[in-house]
Amino acid sequence: MANPTIEEIFEKTDIVALVGEYVQLTKKGKNYSGLCPFHQEKTPSFTVSVEKKLAHCFSCHKGGNPAQFLMDLKHITFKEALEILAKKAGLEYHSTNTTENTKNYAKYYEITNLAKEFYKRNLLKTESGQIAIEYLHKRGIDDQTIKMFDIGLAPAKMDSLYQTLKDANFLDIDMKAIGLIRSNVTNSYDMFIKRVMFPIKDINGNVVGFSGRIYYEDKAQPKYINSPESLIFNKSEVLYNLDKAQLAITKANRVILHEGFMDVFASVKAGFNEAVCSMGTALTADHVRILKKFTNNIVLCYDGDKAGLTASKRAINLLEQNGMQIHIVMLPDSLDPDEYVRKYGELAYQKYFNENQLDAIEFLFRYAIKFHNLNDFNEVVAMKNEIFEMLLRANSESTAEIYLGKLATSLNVSVEAVKADYRKYCNTATTQKYVEYIPDNKKTNENKLEASNYPKSDSIKALVLEYCFKNIKYAKYVDAKIDEYDLMQFLGNDFANVWYQLIDGYYNRYDIFTNEKFEEYILDNKDTMNSYLYFQSIYNGNPNKDSQEFSDNDFNELIIKIIKLNYAFKLKECKNENEQIGEAHIDNVQKMVDILTRSTRFERACKQLINVNLGK
Ligand code: UTP
Ligand code: MN
Repeated sequence: MANPTIEEIFEKTDIVALVGEYVQLTKKGKNYSGLCPFHQEKTPSFTVSVEKKLAHCFSCHKGGNPAQFLMDLKHITFKEALEILAKKAGLEYHSTNTTENTKNYAKYYEITNLAKEFYKRNLLKTESGQIAIEYLHKRGIDDQTIKMFDIGLAPAKMDSLYQTLKDANFLDIDMKAIGLIRSNVTNSYDMFIKRVMFPIKDINGNVVGFSGRIYYEDKAQPKYINSPESLIFNKSEVLYNLDKAQLAITKANRVILHEGFMDVFASVKAGFNEAVCSMGTALTADHVRILKKFTNNIVLCYDGDKAGLTASKRAINLLEQNGMQIHIVMLPDSLDPDEYVRKYGELAYQKYFNENQLDAIEFLFRYAIKFHNLNDFNEVVAMKNEIFEMLLRANSESTAEIYLGKLATSLNVSVEAVKADYRKYCNTATTQKYVEYIPDNKKTNENKLEASNYPKSDSIKALVLEYCFKNIKYAKYVDAKIDEYDLMQFLGNDFANVWYQLIDGYYNRYDIFTNEKFEEYILDNKDTMNSYLYFQSIYNGNPNKDSQEFSDNDFNELIIKIIKLNYAFKLKECKNENEQIGEAHIDNVQKMVDILTRSTRFERACKQLINVNLGK
């Protein structure tokens, strides 16, 4: 069947009903108007014209035709908007792969949806449900919240969902594919037994999985059990409540990120509809990418305990890398938002939340002070390093001045002493920003740093670059034989900067490297110049540099060493994460396998290098 045209789809669209789902409309002459869903306002500027099939805001200019309205609202593509409109209008419209995917997944969504309804019925309409409801009420989850989040109950019987799904003629293989049913040789069982059930939905409101919480005392059981990842459930992408929160996020131009469901419920009850959570797993780059479509502003409100603060710290790094504006709310007495609301009430939470939003620097400062024992010398050193590192990254003298002052007060020492420590730290820091650009003729011995001050991997990287400077053949071989992605992974920003200028720029023009010519070549590019000076400061600090011999074999050994260091580091990161979050375990195992595969592939490439006759 041929696709309907865009005009036909618009023609059949009931624009008042469409917009009415999101905006309360009142009739004004031929048109309708209401409060704009895209920005905060007190007087309605959002207008719907039935005649022209337009829904748009005269104040912020968002919206337009029915498709544009949905695109702005749901952050979807034109084709996806057309699909939704066609479906609402009872037309069949096929466009992209999304249709294919939705089609393929439709059977899974039918299963999860039936399961959701089954669990709900079991909570609301049975005697055993009453006990679970009491538990929820006791936890401050009222009937409205239960309804809003489709909360349900998995029965105590081993296979009640299984029988229900079978009666509805679903296939075992499909139920198992999404982790609702498991089986041994002879029988099939429900994955979730005797648990309060929270359906997990994707951004379009499809149920992609469940989380089940125990609601009675049983120390032998894990508190929550979650659906495994599946074709429809990707943990690193799903954010709980984003389906409902998206509008509020756009409107408030910020998102609030929590650790758990209970916190989202508490937040929403306190009026923060823009709250979502990543369900106990660490925030991922995918999460950030998705949130960034809606807003650049994020408020982290994790648990107020040590684990929550560590998780905040990690999230801050990731969010900063992605250019998000971050605020952090640190709750007192190790409370999580849910506990805070139950202890002090919604109004108190609102007030605390609104009045205690710290920027990242202030948060990191307080965090460093709070979680180190200032009577222990080693801890003081660690604490100072944490703060110094953060100040370096901030790259602002006035900020540094403020916090060095605060630090002096906290340690009860003179500002001068703290400043001197900071200066020393800067001099040995490994980030390019902090290696000042000093013209050759002004260089003194003081600027030349000791190689031993640098992390070993950096001095090895510098040595590799030195090879490439020494002879174009090394540079060309690295360029030809090593996968660029891997190369960038281990070179890191500073060295990559120099490497690109060398291989893509300088060596295209010259065959022989000289320091003067290269500096002249990069003189206008301050970043590269800084990186280059950083490289030099490391290399020149190499105590063996004058006796260093340059041989093809040593070169290869060197590269292999780098790869190993780099991957060892990455593996360690994964392992640390594993230890910290039990839940992310499976994801991390996958990540580790990826890293190992990559590293083996890389090492093979390096070994090949050895066999190549570099001399020719
Ligand atoms: P928390 O331990 O902070 O739970 O884990 P919570 O949100 O405060 O839950 P309550 O108040 O004890 O009921 C935060 C999130 O980590 C995930 C859940 O998604 C939870 O919301 N989690 C926690 C698990 O997946 N499994 C667990 O065993 C524990
Ligand atoms: Mn809690």
